[in-house]
Amino acid sequence: MMALGFSTRVIAAIVVLSWAAVAAPLPATKGFNVKTLSFDEGYAPLFGDGNLVRSSDGRSVRLHLNQYSGSGFISSDLYQYGLFSASIKLPSDYTAGVVVAFYTSNGDMFEKTHDELDLEFLGNIKGKEWRLQTNVYGNGSTSRGREERYLLPFDPTAEAHRYSILWTSDTIIFYVDDTPIREVKRSEAMGADYPTKPMMLYATIWDGSSWATSGGKYKVNYKYSPFISEFSSLVLQGCRMDPIQQLPVDEQCADAEAELAAADYSRMTPDKRQAMRKFRERYMTYSFCYDTLRYPITFPDCDIVPAEQRRFTETGDIKNMPRRRRSKHRSKFFSGSVDSERQADI
Ligand SMILES: *[C@@H]1O[C@H](CO)[C@@H](O)[C@H](O)[C@H]1NC(C)=O
Repeated sequence: MMALGFSTRVIAAIVVLSWAAVAAPLPATKGFNVKTLSFDEGYAPLFGDGNLVRSSDGRSVRLHLNQYSGSGFISSDLYQYGLFSASIKLPSDYTAGVVVAFYTSNGDMFEKTHDELDLEFLGNIKGKEWRLQTNVYGNGSTSRGREERYLLPFDPTAEAHRYSILWTSDTIIFYVDDTPIREVKRSEAMGADYPTKPMMLYATIWDGSSWATSGGKYKVNYKYSPFISEFSSLVLQGCRMDPIQQLPVDEQCADAEAELAAADYSRMTPDKRQAMRKFRERYMTYSFCYDTLRYPITFPDCDIVPAEQRRFTETGDIKNMPRRRRSKHRSKFFSGSVDSERQADI
């Protein structure tokens, strides 16, 4: 009896420990030695004011989507290169058609030649996972979408995780927590498709019924509303510019750019590169580089890895949908066949 009780407790303790290891990843700001801002220090409401709810300490904000409106906020200033980061907790349950976007853009100022860096979360039908999409546009390269999509190694609705966009004059790195998931290097071949004009940070939640889930097959169901996405640990680093003043004098930004380039999060160590490779091997489900139906001529900035390419179809989609490992929601997720998984893709 005693022995049994003891070993049961030991097993229970081990189980709890391993859950903790899965559910509580590295501290969100490890490797990101950055100052977080209060909402009023760096941001302003963008739309759906009534659906934007600040915490009492002003350091986090909830964006609601209901049948009347989505909502969003925007950085008060423009940034000429920067680190844009937030801890984000996504709405759970049935979220088909719901889009949560965290992105930089200057589309309001440069209608035809805008730049944009996207982290977009695409909701899904109940029991299926949120997808994360990244994209890069430069100088209005909207006909050349560089989309990639991934699953996440955790349930993004269970707790907040840090998502970051680093943009320097020669590299773009998208991060999930401390893991770089995509690196875009500025190259001759990419030309003006590499974003170079100052951008603002946007965070929004909106009804993407027409495209977000299975190309619009699954609409937002407001029976499950409000859909709430929480943003905290807000970070804006880089050369800050008043939007009225507009384009900066280069030397104004030299110090801020040097600081940005020297920061930990700008450095790609062998360990980080390895972590990125692993993430992409396990979780990338779509790449524009392998979408030969859409782009018969591969982009010059694509680094085609034949062993990787074999895992994708000519539509750029992964052949075998990856399974999230050691998840406590294992039974809930990935219950469908590969085909229905792919159906749920956009
Ligand atoms: C951006 O596009 C505009 C309009 O097509 C063009 O005039 C300009 O030269 C481009 N900028 C760069 C840096 O190539």
